[in-house]
Amino acid sequence: MKTQIESLKERALAACNGASDVQALQEARVKFLGKKGELTALLRNMGNLPPEERPLVGKLVNEVRDQLEQAWKQKETDLAASKLQAQLEAETLDITLPGRKPRKGTYHPLTLVLNEIKSVFISMGYQVVEGPEIESDYYNFEALNIPKDHPARDMQDTFYLTEHLLLRSQTSPVQIRTMERQQPPVRIIAPGKVYRSDADVTHSPMFHQVEGLLVDKGITMADLKGTLQLFAEKLFGPDTKTRFRPSYFPFTEPSAEVDVSCIICKGQGCRVCSDTGWLEILGCGMVDPRVLAGVGYDPEEVSGFAFGMGIERIAMLKYGINDIRLFFENDLRFLKQF
Ligand code: PHE
Repeated sequence: MKTQIESLKERALAACNGASDVQALQEARVKFLGKKGELTALLRNMGNLPPEERPLVGKLVNEVRDQLEQAWKQKETDLAASKLQAQLEAETLDITLPGRKPRKGTYHPLTLVLNEIKSVFISMGYQVVEGPEIESDYYNFEALNIPKDHPARDMQDTFYLTEHLLLRSQTSPVQIRTMERQQPPVRIIAPGKVYRSDADVTHSPMFHQVEGLLVDKGITMADLKGTLQLFAEKLFGPDTKTRFRPSYFPFTEPSAEVDVSCIICKGQGCRVCSDTGWLEILGCGMVDPRVLAGVGYDPEEVSGFAFGMGIERIAMLKYGINDIRLFFENDLRFLKQF
């Protein structure tokens, strides 16, 4: 019996140590230590032993069981450790590979230019306001001193939605909406989309303008000139010159168009400025007293100036872009350059 037990122990230890994974180990356990296993079977046979041998054999069996339990425990720990080790080896990262850079977006050139324009005027104390793109005939024309059948309506070929609603053809209606809401002093810029039935390499049916309006006591054309001169210098560089040419807008009097010295040739004359040395960048003027009176301001008390510019045009000049459609085609090869 003793040799049986010894042999069982040897075989059980061999099976235990030889188990290559958790499952094999578990199967071996059932075989030797389970309820129907070999050790239990041995114990059952103890009844056949002479009574004086039973305590000895019983003790031996218990010792062997303890040793085997110990061996299994140890083996379980070893298997778990080597499994973890294998996993760690299999899953190592090759940190010598170059990393993958996350792809970063860039600002749209129109956003960049608008941000610059905004920061120049914000630094001069202007507020940024917005107005609706679907406008009434009243705000887009009437209140800006452009009555029905006025030839100036043809200056901007307008998209009408109904008889009285249209896609605004300029940001100037925001002037009216702002003045209706507040009393002078007023100091705002109003950026946004505008729409005109027009399309070629320099005209898009949808484009962007920034309107400016300042109304207060004692505002003169000199304030307008100084403001726009400073704006031109900040946007195009400190050597930039400006030139005011008489012009006409129904809602300003007097009106002017403003040119800056060509930012490409610095005024020498080149292809971009058609050899004139000047580039037109915006329209402006002193707010017509009729417009001020129309919103309930007293033109004897206050005066003001207004200006409006196309953001696309300024971006095209700044970045040397020769086709306005590039802004709206969303071609990444174009957009990535900014
Ligand atoms: N709204 C005019 C345009 O779109 C520009 C402008 C604005 C002119 C303000 C004078 C004053 O042509």
